[in-house]
Amino acid sequence: MRKGHSAVLAGLGAWLPPRVVDNQELSRRLDTSDEWIRTRTGIRERRIADPDVSTVDMAVHAGGNALRSADSDEVDALVLATATPDHLCPASAPRVASELGLSGIAAFDVNAVCSGFVYALATASGLIAAGAANRVLVIGADVFSRMCDPDDRATYPIFGDGAGAVVLRAGEADEPGAIGPFDLHSAGDLAELLIVPAGGAKQRVAAEPHDYFVTMQGTAVFRHAVARMAESARTVLGELGLAVGDVDRFVGHQANIRILHGAAKQLGLPEERVVANIGSVGNTSAASIPLALADACDDGDLRPGHRVLLAAFGAGLTWGSTVLTWPDVKPG
Ligand code: UT7
Repeated sequence: MRKGHSAVLAGLGAWLPPRVVDNQELSRRLDTSDEWIRTRTGIRERRIADPDVSTVDMAVHAGGNALRSADSDEVDALVLATATPDHLCPASAPRVASELGLSGIAAFDVNAVCSGFVYALATASGLIAAGAANRVLVIGADVFSRMCDPDDRATYPIFGDGAGAVVLRAGEADEPGAIGPFDLHSAGDLAELLIVPAGGAKQRVAAEPHDYFVTMQGTAVFRHAVARMAESARTVLGELGLAVGDVDRFVGHQANIRILHGAAKQLGLPEERVVANIGSVGNTSAASIPLALADACDDGDLRPGHRVLLAAFGAGLTWGSTVLTWPDVKPG
């Protein structure tokens, strides 16, 4: 890496819609129970955005908080990870930038669904490494509840809405907060395992209303998530010459507490090092990792100097991971 061209984390922000929907509320209208949802997923409650709140709105809140945390609203690019943009066309990032008063900067969306935040971090790091940007706002925001059929007990209880963001700045590879290397992968032949069949350009109008909602082969996705996150995490640790014992906190995509514990077990990482906030937010897709980072900072569980392993997995299929040493940064 050229001197001064490493991406360094300089700010963190989160935003959750105020409406809390707990498992009891869901079990009053769905054939499910608090006990099933808690024991199979670890989720107690999730946040659901009001109908007039969009991905752009949530991203603006989280992005503004990250800029406050970084103590500067100077950024020259914005990368928004989302699978639920306000419109199919155009991307949502330019609108987020203009609402943050950043009109004019480079702004684009990255869609790697639940792996989106790690993909967006890698993209932003690439902009910095190439000298195309000095400071980048990276936001993960999804309103995934709207992609789920409210009457489908197999998907609706799992997802929640939210947004999280970080500011990356150009710096040195040996500074606290320097991110990398990255390990990223995909398997498009397995796209059908988690898909929204209609609404895109291939099938603008659904044959069945249900085709506008996500369908998921949960057990197959579960198995891939555990194996691929563990495999990818091992790869980045190997590239840095680190052992699993060198990891202080594992911040994996919050899809299911059993997936997080399964991946940790495959890695040989003690459960106490697993950061988990899925109980209170559910699976928030691209927002999940920054929201988990913010909660862990607020709790005092994530502290400056901790070596943090990030790993994500999502529809596509996509997965990836990276490593950083936590800097002296608090959520804004
Ligand atoms: O963000 C990345 C993408 N998403 C994921 O990573 C999700 C990955 N998958 C999972 O987390 C799990 O597979 C689920 C939580 C979705 C499901 O857990 P599971 O242990 O794999 O359950 P299952 O799908 O094998 O279903 C077991 C039983 C079934 O009943 P039968 O066939 O055994 O009679 C389901 O119909 O549980 C039933 N079931 C439910 N019961 C009560 C499925 N959903 C529910 C529900 N409440 N909400």
